[in-house]
Amino acid sequence: MNRLIIKNASQLVTCSGFKAKKGKEMNQLHVIGNGAVIVEDGHIMWVGKTPDIPRRLEKVAETIDATGKTVLPGFVDSHTHFVFGGYREEEYAWRLAGHDYMTIMEKGGGIVNSVKQTQGASLDELIRKGMKRLDSMMSFGVTTVEGKSGYGLDMDTEIKQLQVMKKLNDRHKMDVIPTFLGAHAVPINYKGREDAFIDTMIHDVLPEVVGQNLAVFCDVFCEKGVFTVEQSKRMLLAAQAKGLKAKIHADEIVPLGGAELAAEIGAVSADHLLMASDEGIKAMVEQNVVATLLPGTAFSLKEDYARARDMMDAGLAVALATDFNPGSCFTESIPLIIALATLYMNMSIEETITALTLNGAAALDLADTIGSIDVGKKGDLVIHEFPSYKFIPYHIGVTTVEKVIKEGQVIFD
Ligand code: NIG
Ligand code: FE
Repeated sequence: MNRLIIKNASQLVTCSGFKAKKGKEMNQLHVIGNGAVIVEDGHIMWVGKTPDIPRRLEKVAETIDATGKTVLPGFVDSHTHFVFGGYREEEYAWRLAGHDYMTIMEKGGGIVNSVKQTQGASLDELIRKGMKRLDSMMSFGVTTVEGKSGYGLDMDTEIKQLQVMKKLNDRHKMDVIPTFLGAHAVPINYKGREDAFIDTMIHDVLPEVVGQNLAVFCDVFCEKGVFTVEQSKRMLLAAQAKGLKAKIHADEIVPLGGAELAAEIGAVSADHLLMASDEGIKAMVEQNVVATLLPGTAFSLKEDYARARDMMDAGLAVALATDFNPGSCFTESIPLIIALATLYMNMSIEETITALTLNGAAALDLADTIGSIDVGKKGDLVIHEFPSYKFIPYHIGVTTVEKVIKEGQVIFD
């Protein structure tokens, strides 16, 4: 038996809940002063005030004194593309010089540039880079991360990327949740034949992904000049029929109707949503689709931010994630996301924390096992250096993380 007690926390912020918090509920964090939490064999078995810790439990246990500190659930980064070969630093420079993301993409840069470099990278190289990137995310307090394929666009490389994530999930202490994003861009040899590309993804690659049990989710880039709503729908329905859950890159640059599609097919989340319509938002509320907002991408592409305030006022469950990728948003920085959400998206500190914990978990359909400090959930906890959670956004752009605990084990100190 392995038991860990964290006690004397100035604030134990539980974020308590077993499903996404919608709208106004996002402001409820549930803060316990002089808090304590006990993790046994990886799972939370007791939460309360330090003086109430049952004596019998205190006898055999490793103890961490969190005096003057704040304890939070581990952050859940529910949207990333962290497995890729090569980099696109030249494109970043072009963007600074005034070229926009879609123009660069039309010139053969963009996603297909990373595709070439990922096709050329070995499994070992991708694993090595992946481990380093996970270490960096962990230092920001992330304990679960979603990762997408989509820099393959062919059978071998899509499978390679997903196998890398499987290996990383085994090797790294963090949990990696894999998403098949075969329909991420149109490869050059399929230009003008997008339907044929979707057909091969559905009939050739998807069965292999499912057969090898390599993905939990399927995602598509539903965007003008990439895949239409109809093509996205075909891909996602086929994936759902094979047992994968759906996510969508929706209404990022043009209001195409991705939010509406997410509601129609019962996607777990729709992501980006900078241009989502009021009808789309309403439909998502009714169907309990999580809105995953990615302010790092809007920041890096100099786009307007998603309408987080309107979405929460309409009753949506909002999650925040980094969208870490080599093109539109090369950052895994949680402090940056927190700064953007609180300063530029009109999200309260409490809403921002909910969006990165419980609602991030809900965006991965995992709100029953992670995302809050509740009895029965995984013991994924982060100790922050200050006595109140309000320091987390206040220390702008700098991490406040001191210790990261995954399933009751200290993994970063
Ligand atoms: O979420 N929008 C599409 N996919 C990524 C960008 C990936 C890339 O540029 O490499 C995104 O922003
Ligand atoms: Fe993305």
